[in-house]
Amino acid sequence: MAKLWSGRFQKETDRLVDDFHSSISFDSRLYKYDITGSIAHAKMLAKVGIISHQEADSIVGGLTDILAGIEAGRVEFSVAAEDIHMNVEQLLIASIGEVGKKLHTARSRNDQVALDVRMYLRDELDRVRQLLAGLAGELLDMAEKHLDTVMPGYTHLQRAQPVTLAHHLLAYCQMFLRDRDRLADCRRRVNVLPLGAGALAGTTFPLDREYVARELGFDAITENSLDAVSDRDFAVDFAAAASLIMVHLSRFCEEIILWSSAEFSFIELDDAYSTGSSMMPQKKNPDVAELIRGKSGRVFGDLTALLTMLKGLPLAYNKDMQEDKEALFDAVDTVKKCLLIFRPLVATMRVKKENMSRAARGGFTNATDLADYLVQQGVPFREAHAIVGRTVAYCLERNKSLEELSLEELHNFSPSIKEDVYAAIGVAHCVAARSITGGPAPEAVQEAIRTARRRL
Ligand code: ARG
Repeated sequence: MAKLWSGRFQKETDRLVDDFHSSISFDSRLYKYDITGSIAHAKMLAKVGIISHQEADSIVGGLTDILAGIEAGRVEFSVAAEDIHMNVEQLLIASIGEVGKKLHTARSRNDQVALDVRMYLRDELDRVRQLLAGLAGELLDMAEKHLDTVMPGYTHLQRAQPVTLAHHLLAYCQMFLRDRDRLADCRRRVNVLPLGAGALAGTTFPLDREYVARELGFDAITENSLDAVSDRDFAVDFAAAASLIMVHLSRFCEEIILWSSAEFSFIELDDAYSTGSSMMPQKKNPDVAELIRGKSGRVFGDLTALLTMLKGLPLAYNKDMQEDKEALFDAVDTVKKCLLIFRPLVATMRVKKENMSRAARGGFTNATDLADYLVQQGVPFREAHAIVGRTVAYCLERNKSLEELSLEELHNFSPSIKEDVYAAIGVAHCVAARSITGGPAPEAVQEAIRTARRRL
């Protein structure tokens, strides 16, 4: 079939060119949005009297049949027809004849593609937000079961102060809730109708853009035709938000990988989310977590590709922008897949409470609490810090923990220390005493869980 734009050409495009500039192999996934957008456009053309209602009915009927055909797998797209927009238009003309040629009145592929991508992204955003909410809810459920599961908190990957697994899980829950908010914010900018911008300079026809916006569920219409066809900020917005989701997943995965090593032995992953080695019979590897960590790089790559694609483009549309799709689709697919698999991976892991608690009891995680105890006896903090530092050095030489020292030994470091010190530096007490809002004490964490649930 002759190309829809072939009027001013004397020659066919080279086969290599057809193949090179065709995007149907990847933008076919936009078919539903393309057709839904075209249906709204056709109805609007009739509403304002540019085409007759009969013509609109026949276009809408034709498009509806094409949609059903694609969904039933009966349609084969053509590479020579370039992209999804022209494939659908060609199919329409082939099926309903001359009247099909009226659909593209007062429209360009430039505003059309912007429309399709926005509609696609709006749906995908909502799916990603649901996945995030599901994961955050799962973490809250897990946290409820681990309010008293004491574990070491780390800085510099050195044991620092005791926290609980619930507190640790809630840290990630906060990240995922922020990610969800970020996507909601991104959605506001996605959900703006570009149709009516034409190729770049709008159109001479009296289109009812507000009507199309309402039909397609857009909250607003774009305010500048040049910007409308050249703006892909919303795709960058999404890829940036997706990158941050991947950062959060990747950090969590990194911990899961560490925790499942024999050196930590804090958790054991379920068999269903682990894999073995082709050579070493004993191995049980956290491949899934590693792969999520690895896939974060893909999404950062997608973000970088989008930014790089845009940075040198003069207004308005340039074909470079066709490159937005594979990057955006890859970011969407990757973040969805990772969120989907991560939730059961974390939900099914077996927590080795005893090992966590033993680790929390070692490593002098209660040293700050001993210093705080001295402060309560009137010792200035900086001095208390030095006293406890010396006490720790003494313990290290004798391979003892602070609470294993006798009262006499402790007295050598500070006469202010009394018998009640042992209760004050017990690990469970160290956690319970941190009942400040946002702290690890079980009641503070319970409150944090309630607050987070209200946000879900
Ligand atoms: N396939 C194109 C894209 O993805 C659609 C817009 C083409 N417009 C044009 N003037 N070549 O960006």
